[in-house]
Amino acid sequence: MKPIDRTRLKSLMQIEQKKFVDARPKSKSLFERAGKSLLAGVPMNWMMKWAGAFPPFVREAQGAHFFDVDGNRYIDFCLGDTGAMTGHGPFATVKAAEEQMRRGITTMLPSEDAILVAEELQKRFGLPFWQFALTATDANRFSIRLARQITGRPKILVFNWCYHGTVDESFISLQADGTGHARPGNIGPAVDPSVTTRVVEFNDVAALEKALAHGDVACVLAEPAMTNVGIVLPAPGFHQAMREITRKHAVLLINDETHTICAGPGGCTRADKLEPDMVVFGKAIGGGIPGAAYGLSQEVAERIRAKHDLENCDVGGIGGTLAGNALSLAAMRTTLTKVLTQENFDRMIPLAQRWAEGVAKAIVEAGVPWSVTRLGCRAEYLFSPQPATSGGQAHDAMDFELERFMHLHAMNRGVLLTPFHNMALMCPQTEAEDVDQHTKIFREAVKAVSG
Ligand SMILES: Cc1ncc(COP(=O)(O)O)c(C=O)c1O
Repeated sequence: MKPIDRTRLKSLMQIEQKKFVDARPKSKSLFERAGKSLLAGVPMNWMMKWAGAFPPFVREAQGAHFFDVDGNRYIDFCLGDTGAMTGHGPFATVKAAEEQMRRGITTMLPSEDAILVAEELQKRFGLPFWQFALTATDANRFSIRLARQITGRPKILVFNWCYHGTVDESFISLQADGTGHARPGNIGPAVDPSVTTRVVEFNDVAALEKALAHGDVACVLAEPAMTNVGIVLPAPGFHQAMREITRKHAVLLINDETHTICAGPGGCTRADKLEPDMVVFGKAIGGGIPGAAYGLSQEVAERIRAKHDLENCDVGGIGGTLAGNALSLAAMRTTLTKVLTQENFDRMIPLAQRWAEGVAKAIVEAGVPWSVTRLGCRAEYLFSPQPATSGGQAHDAMDFELERFMHLHAMNRGVLLTPFHNMALMCPQTEAEDVDQHTKIFREAVKAVSG
């Protein structure tokens, strides 16, 4: 297998940077203007991290494509990092949202849609009781709080290099000595996360058993397959072992299905017949309109009810004035029943297979030591010869310089991948020709970097 020539990579990157800037004069000028009113010229700090000298400003997005303000067209495999997994502006959701907006957006009172959404989620995930939030981050935070309250235990456990949104407890990584430390870049943590969190590698059953044996962990917060450090699939038997160990130590298990919903309409929970105590699902649930849900088992719901304090429940740390608003519930109802359907998954999953096969073939042709992994309608390539089996392995395989080149090369040829790793997601409007276009340019890029 050929190593990557770094000098060559640098000069290829310079060519791509120039090409990027030359084709985007309007985005460049907007970015310069933005620098006078937006910190670092972007509305969200991590938007600085896109591979170009500035992010392309978007004019319009529809289905699986978008145009930037300079008129460049992109095939969108990032899809708002799953927020737009429904395709941009899904027709049914937009229509329902428009109708609901005319009838009121938020009242702090329930609408019938809340029940319809909860009933739909019951069917998909098998959990009987549901609550709503505006983001998956909040749904995770609220689930953690409830887990702490009913177990009376202070800590949570997460897997190394997980991502569950901006949840303070989750920004921990595993050190060589087996202890957990604040992740690099952690901004102003309230306390060192090792105070709140235990961390082990995904798929490491022995480490999980050891960590939970301390008796101080309220819940394990886990993606059923990791998706934020590349895709890391569960080893055969891992879920069963995790469930047995969590039950043995009276630890609640929270499945964060925000990304793993790509496995099918009920995420991995349904596809793999998992039995979590809680489930979190955000982002795509409202077709891009902010909304998230968290589900509770019968037992968890009863334990929460036993602790319910009517007088103080509005200041208990679980809330959000706009959570469960009529607009997000109308969007969730329609997205679940009309867009994130089995029929659409049956289109999207084979396209991800096609994407993964095309990439795998190009990797073999070029002889680079890379691999490709897929979960449902999501696929990803990794700069290591074998798919990773833990977050640590996946993180070690990351290559910032190479990744930026691959992303910029793709953007310059009208293809957007999910930033910060090499992931592609299919939506109901993605076509085989979009996938084949990616394969074509991926092959060119791999050939270019491998010489
Ligand atoms: C698995 C998972 N959970 C939760 C979140 C947080 O979602 P949000 O940023 O919408 O709160 C993310 C975001 O990437 C995620 O990947």
